Amino acid sequence: RFSTLSVAPPDAILGLTEAFLADSNPDKMNLSVGVYKDASGQTPVLKCVKAAETKLIEEEKTKGYLPIDGYTDYRNHVRNLVFDETIEHDRIAVIQTPGGTGALRVAADFLVTQLTPIRIWIPTPTWANHGNIFAAAHLEAQPYSYLGADRKSLDIDAMLDDLKNKTRVGDAVLLHGCCHNPTGIDPTAAQWKEIAKVVAEKSLIPLLDFAYQGFGAGIAEDAVGLRTVLDAVDEAIVCSSFSKNFGLYSERVGAVSLVASDADACKASLSQLKRIVRTNYSNPPRHGGAIVATVLDDAGLTAMWTEELTEMRERITRLRGDFIDTMKSTGAGHDFEFLRSQNGMFSFSGLTPMQVDELKNKHSIYIVGSGRINVAGMSESKMSQLCEAVASVMES
Ligand code: LMR
Repeated sequence: RFSTLSVAPPDAILGLTEAFLADSNPDKMNLSVGVYKDASGQTPVLKCVKAAETKLIEEEKTKGYLPIDGYTDYRNHVRNLVFDETIEHDRIAVIQTPGGTGALRVAADFLVTQLTPIRIWIPTPTWANHGNIFAAAHLEAQPYSYLGADRKSLDIDAMLDDLKNKTRVGDAVLLHGCCHNPTGIDPTAAQWKEIAKVVAEKSLIPLLDFAYQGFGAGIAEDAVGLRTVLDAVDEAIVCSSFSKNFGLYSERVGAVSLVASDADACKASLSQLKRIVRTNYSNPPRHGGAIVATVLDDAGLTAMWTEELTEMRERITRLRGDFIDTMKSTGAGHDFEFLRSQNGMFSFSGLTPMQVDELKNKHSIYIVGSGRINVAGMSESKMSQLCEAVASVMES
């Protein structure tokens, strides 16, 4: 009965926004969830999105259901953003999903229902929700090494060692396509080659989480690691999200792209993906996918999107630099120079769970328990306030 139920713990990321909203301190700062904010503290609707929505409202003729696998035009655009021409189109099945989280859950359900016994190897650390999603799908997750003992760099030797020696042939491995969440530390091009080699040698199925395409170095540049892995294998799954790079968070726009070894295997895999979707959310919501397709169908809107995305990426880089410089000026020992090479929205600060708690309790500054700070949520005008608070918890 419901009266016997206990209260679940708050979500490691979204639970912090709930706590932030309930905080009455007027100087509070939410640097937890990965959401971009502009200099005025707003999460803006991109201009290209507004233009696409105007067009959609004028031209939309129906609210009828989409097919189970989603909007065809959108699916084709996702394929072109993720893959290069080296993989035949009839080996790629793309389905539209509600966000990147929905994509991961569909992928997990697919692995469990179609390929059991299978386990998935996930980096330490990884996005706080990965473990929860795989547990909910009853997909066994095992950790592989990622972050070095210095908590500032990738321990590539330990990672390769785990993937070589701990995995069973045929297991799945979760790789962050770019902008590793939460560390912001990505493999170099040479390291991606080594990773791809081990993935191929052990016949691992790569599940590439690709939620931040465009937030590292650019749309094409951020696909380099992922494509290195795809070159080495004939089966893979990519989970995309357009929450960040189109700012479409609440529209829930994502995709699963499955690569099979041939066209028949691709057809069969797509049919199984569709069964999974049909028994979950039936078919995806239309609006967000239609926005992405409308922008990418139009050269002018695509150029506008690229410009807006570049502006967000460059501003995040500037804010990261400002944070490092302002921390230095708060006193000796506050050297965050190691953050400079981190990619994407987040910086992995190295703050301890106690310091993170103190930031929240004493300063109403909310960051994730791992020490992950959402740089994309920082603002120029509150930088000194943030850095003074961080310095004070480091000194106490
Ligand atoms: C994050 O890591 O903050 C984002 O991916 C948003 C989320 O759903 O957790």
